[in-house]
Amino acid sequence: MTTALFTASGISQRYAGRAVLDDIGFVLRPGEMLALLGPSGAGKTTLFRCLAGLQAPDAGRARLDGTDVLALRGRERRRIGLVFQQFNLVGRLSALDNVLAGRLGHVPAWRGMLRMFSREDVALAQHCLDRVGLADHAAQRADTLSGGQQQRVAIARALAQQPDLIIADEPVASLDPGSGTGVLELLKAICHADRVAVICSLHQPDYARRYADRVLGLRAGRIVVDVPAADLAHAQLQALYDDAIMETTQ
Ligand SMILES: Nc1ncnc2c1ncn2[C@@H]1O[C@H](COP(=O)(O)OP(=O)(O)O)[C@@H](O)[C@H]1O
Ligand SMILES: [Mg+2]
Repeated sequence: MTTALFTASGISQRYAGRAVLDDIGFVLRPGEMLALLGPSGAGKTTLFRCLAGLQAPDAGRARLDGTDVLALRGRERRRIGLVFQQFNLVGRLSALDNVLAGRLGHVPAWRGMLRMFSREDVALAQHCLDRVGLADHAAQRADTLSGGQQQRVAIARALAQQPDLIIADEPVASLDPGSGTGVLELLKAICHADRVAVICSLHQPDYARRYADRVLGLRAGRIVVDVPAADLAHAQLQALYDDAIMETTQ
């Protein structure tokens, strides 16, 4: 069995005395795509912030190759790429410049500020845009791209970091179904071809079944489902969402 790339153990977080995350633990291997399902308020974004090292949980640890994510500095930080629901691009910059931003951890700060990237960095950024199918849009301002294209630029930016792990928080929630499945197909292809691990929160169980290798179900801050995607049962989904109306894509 392949060694673990990423390990979360005992992650707990309380806000105002209320447990928002309660003893979260799981292991992720290189090239594994994990879907995180759970209703709004389940704690998905809080968990992702802890996994990415953006916030220190009250208890527990997330480790990438044995290193606490909170201790990742500089270049090491690039090993985790982030993708957000709202893309988080700089609208007035070109697609290529947004992707180059993924290289910023790689160059000394003064060079980054002058935007003097090396020829290799520019070539890598162009290659990443090519991989997400946007080679022809490199010079286009990000805010003139469609939502699906913007999310592809965000994925190219994450790719340009040459990450070991991509954490995507509801990456298709702002997209129409066609663009959404395109983005998930892309994440799955990157995951399997580059052996990058992907953790992706979704609202559609059907997407989780179709694209993920494994599904974690989060409810009220606890993991209540942890199964291979192919084994995800209707009863487990009901337990996760109760009587809430599930979004389906069929
Ligand atoms: N900084 C914060 N301070 C207080 N409560 C928070 C904070 N961040 C999130 N919460 C609460 O934690 C719970 C989980 O939120 P969140 O992680 O955003 O869930 P999800 O992403 O699954 O919708 C919610 O009840 C939310 O209001
Ligand atoms: Mg959220």
